[in-house]
Amino acid sequence: GATFLGGALGGAAVTLGGTAARSAADTPRDAAGTAPDHAGRATVPFRGPRQPGVGTTPQGFATLVALDLVRGTDREALIRLMRIWTDDAERLMAGRPGLTDTEPELAAVPARLTVTVGYGPGVFAAADLAGRTPPWLRPLPSFGMDRLEDAWSGGDLLLQVCADDPVAVSHAVRVLVKQARTFAVGRWLQRGFRNSPGTTAPGTTWRNPMGQVDGTGNIDPATEPHLVWHADDTAGWLAGGTSVVVRRIAMDLDGWDEVDRAGRENVIGRRLADGAPLTGNREHDEPDLEATGPNGFGVIDFAAHIRRSRTDDPAERFLRRPYGYDDGPGDTGLLFVSYQADVDRQFVPVQRRLDELDLLNEWTTPVGSAIFAVPPGAGPGEYLGQALLE
Ligand code: HEM
Repeated sequence: GATFLGGALGGAAVTLGGTAARSAADTPRDAAGTAPDHAGRATVPFRGPRQPGVGTTPQGFATLVALDLVRGTDREALIRLMRIWTDDAERLMAGRPGLTDTEPELAAVPARLTVTVGYGPGVFAAADLAGRTPPWLRPLPSFGMDRLEDAWSGGDLLLQVCADDPVAVSHAVRVLVKQARTFAVGRWLQRGFRNSPGTTAPGTTWRNPMGQVDGTGNIDPATEPHLVWHADDTAGWLAGGTSVVVRRIAMDLDGWDEVDRAGRENVIGRRLADGAPLTGNREHDEPDLEATGPNGFGVIDFAAHIRRSRTDDPAERFLRRPYGYDDGPGDTGLLFVSYQADVDRQFVPVQRRLDELDLLNEWTTPVGSAIFAVPPGAGPGEYLGQALLE
């Protein structure tokens, strides 16, 4: 992994030669620099019973930052930090500069910016609230396929910052991390991408760096909110909250190159062309796990990723909100991000099954793992985490 601020934020300079200059002057711009369709002006509301960035249709770009609390950050200090982050997240998401923003012009293009805050176990210890730690908030069990690196694992605080524009993401991350300086220091930072908005037809499922249509079998948080959030009337501070699992999963793309098309489709159980199950014709056709071919074997392999990750138990489903990452040749993969009401009940059984058997495991290796409780959203006049910290 790369070190925070040193490697991950520094990055190597890459110069591309011969790129035809795009004629920015051809497009009329207003004073804020946004194009006339105002896609950059689109905003997601910050205030509400649930934090944004979970049920929000995934934006094109994401940066996930984990921070560790510095010694002396106690409950009072955490409240101060949460007041600051609440104020800044609200401003930035609305397209306004942060309170002490040193580059205020960069705030003018929010592009559906969302800021989502999570708490690792360390927050509860620091706040002297260990008794309120959700039972599932602890490192995931270790899995046989894991090759976890400290550089990509753990953390006391999480910032998930997403937008349809990477400039907006970068600026918001800078403001929020800078404002936290006296309370917390960076532990890891991971950047992810999907398609830029406008590049595919609305509703198109994105493709991950292995070329697979990824997200077809996902849940819709609007129709099954109970799978994602603790009901708003749940007793305790987590009402309206959720949990997030962040796994950095490396892909062996050179090894994947050696697999032919039929083999690749067999690994997932879906066609590469359109994501349709091998037993169907269209992406959203229900896979038929019973169907057998002429040789008597299942059309969808007994160890295919969709057979192993599917479940008859409706309580074992959760929201996947992954991004691709590409940190250079040989360092590409999936920032697997999932939201669920209960990690132990929903996520762990599925991950266990995949660890036991999944054709995909030959080309994928988890190298980072972190888990956070995601407090409810901030209502009018509230700060993030108030129900826990007050
Ligand atoms: C489905 C790729 C890791 C859980 C899928 C599909 C693809 C895919 C292509 C089929 C399309 C879809 O329904 O989204 C990958 C890749 C991974 C990865 C490339 C790692 C690099 C995981 C992990 C989990 C998981 C770690 C959970 C622990 C699921 C589930 C489905 C799914 C629940 C939907 C199954 C269904 O109900 O049809 N994945 N996946 N995947 N994956 Fe993964």
